[in-house]
Amino acid sequence: MKRACVIGWPVSHSRSPVIHRYWLKLYRLHGAYELEAVRPEEIGDFLKGLGKRGYAGANVTLPHKEAALAAADRPDQAATAIGAANTLWFDGDGLLHASNTDAYGFTTHLATEAPDWNKDGRPVMVLGAGGAARAILHGLLEAGASQIVLANRTADRAKALAKAFGSRVSVVPWEDRNKALGACGLLVNATSLGMTGKPPLDIDLSALPPDATVADIVYSPLQTPLLAAAKARENRIVDGLGMLLHQAVPGFECWFGVRPEVTPDLRAHVAAHLGAS
Ligand code: ATR
Repeated sequence: MKRACVIGWPVSHSRSPVIHRYWLKLYRLHGAYELEAVRPEEIGDFLKGLGKRGYAGANVTLPHKEAALAAADRPDQAATAIGAANTLWFDGDGLLHASNTDAYGFTTHLATEAPDWNKDGRPVMVLGAGGAARAILHGLLEAGASQIVLANRTADRAKALAKAFGSRVSVVPWEDRNKALGACGLLVNATSLGMTGKPPLDIDLSALPPDATVADIVYSPLQTPLLAAAKARENRIVDGLGMLLHQAVPGFECWFGVRPEVTPDLRAHVAAHLGAS
């Protein structure tokens, strides 16, 4: 039987088991997907012993994504560029490969929901400068974004991130985010604001063009206050659940040998687990 797991600290909140166990059942595979709560001081040893524990690979969540990259024999381009890995698998020679599929998950869902998001080359505004924002920037640039404007409460973090990603990324001060929206075709919230238990994102969408798209990486609640505000003014919205579902696809294929599909039924199944069916 093939086995995979999600590794985090804490890990009980992870939705990955709901997704992978759904696919295991759907495709009638003899496999298992488990939860591994691993303390930060133990992650190095745990990853060294991953194969011996019988795992074909793993998902890795906070706070272990950097450690997962460091443990890999063969990190791919996305993991290296993002500086963190969320998916690990062994090849036939026992070498540990690492990828970061968050960028893939985000842009795949975006391409499904808003295929023309970059058609006129208008700037994309990304809010945030943490690990999630890094993955979003990588994904958007790989997908051909012409210009990205980055705004973050702490300006220095935005500047450092923009510098790392080159000339297509520029920084606007956090205070100027509302007026800078006037030129944008896409707005992405890559902060954790709007998540259940956190304050909503403080933004005024009045200047945003009516044909612009608003995307949120937060998926709990499914409709964040940002998405509700965008919907109320009839902007197209892209929620965070699609990113979560699509980022799971490459890992499942590596471990279990079937490329799984993201379907409305999977979406409804996971949404029900979020308490938002
Ligand atoms: P992750 O790695 O998951 O992206 P993070 O590194 O903690 O998490 O980043 C969270 C993001 O949300 C950051 O961009 C953070 O802004 P700072 O860099 O200024 O900390 C942003 N954020 C969190 N709380 C915020 C708030 N109340 N107002 C504005 N931005 C906030």
